[in-house]
Amino acid sequence: MSETASPSAPAYSGPRRILSGIQASGALHLGNYLGALKRFTQLQDQGAPCFLFVADLHAITVWQDPNLLAAQTREIAAAYLASGLDPAKSVIFPQSAVRAHSELAWIFNCVARLGWLDRMTQFKEKSGKHKERSSVGLYTYPVLQAADILLYKATEVPTGEDQKQHLELTRDIAAKFNGDFGVPGFFPLPEPLTQGPAPRVMSLRDGTAKMSKSDPSDASRINLTDDADVIAGKIRKSKTDMGVMPEPGESLDARPEVRNLLTIYAALSDRSRDDVTAEFAGQGFGAFKPKLADLAVESLAPVTAEMRRLMADPAEIDRVLKDGADRAAAVADATVAEVKDVVGFWKG
Ligand code: TYM
Repeated sequence: MSETASPSAPAYSGPRRILSGIQASGALHLGNYLGALKRFTQLQDQGAPCFLFVADLHAITVWQDPNLLAAQTREIAAAYLASGLDPAKSVIFPQSAVRAHSELAWIFNCVARLGWLDRMTQFKEKSGKHKERSSVGLYTYPVLQAADILLYKATEVPTGEDQKQHLELTRDIAAKFNGDFGVPGFFPLPEPLTQGPAPRVMSLRDGTAKMSKSDPSDASRINLTDDADVIAGKIRKSKTDMGVMPEPGESLDARPEVRNLLTIYAALSDRSRDDVTAEFAGQGFGAFKPKLADLAVESLAPVTAEMRRLMADPAEIDRVLKDGADRAAAVADATVAEVKDVVGFWKG
């Protein structure tokens, strides 16, 4: 990217703030849990102020059934709560309920350059061969993401590795805005926190492809709605190879499926991959897989049970979302008011 902060520009001096979001577009999977949800809770529990939202504006960049969208939003909110986020500590809200997201996104559309967006690999993946039939929103998706982050002047953004390029673009937009309008340090250049224990959980059927809700094979992922038998079955049938469990220090470059299962085991049990490798070295997959299945079920069952309980009581979720939207809007509206001043809009 072309713009970076000039080393002489004064640094942002505001408070530490964590922000992240998850799209309201259907089933959550183990990748979302390990790459995002579990990390949000860890950051919250370390005392960091967290803003976590349901990205429903992002969801509609591809078609969403209007009869399902609100329920999908509640489902993500339920996942936030079930994985340990506490609405008394963290601000949990639907993106569309805070108008400032759309407002700042427009202003950033006029800051970001076409050439920057042309380089976004996620757009290329999602639009596939039919670029001209994709929505314009899908193309400017990362600009809205930058608005999400900078509205709250977030200093750190925990996500899986797939969001790295969008976070770099956010830094570029922040730096260009600060530079173009002569307001050094106005927006922070947020730090991407993409180095968690499992920043890229891979498909159970192909260790070179990311675990994803868009994979046509349901066996490729563990959904947060899967029950214990389904989880155990998917792990039992997960792709491995003809070898045995690796020795510590052995290269796993040619064994992506094995590396993935070890990474999942380590992340679920809060241990290092080296430690887990040492425990299972030389054993057959027939010994390892049932232990991984037990661990996955044991870790996810309380989360999925709590999600189900919450989904049965939408009023409780709605209270959390409404309160979160009010608290988020208080911060976001103040930023937009400042931005409008900086840009020079009429105030009346
Ligand atoms: P989304 O909804 O695709 O994914 C939500 C979070 O889950 C992470 N993730 C994974 N992590 C590890 N392994 C995987 N296989 C895996 N798949 C998904 C994602 O990295 C993400 O952290 N654009 C975002 C939503 C968003 C956002 C934001 C995030 C909108 N605005 C502002 C941060 C800040 C997205 O589509 O995530």
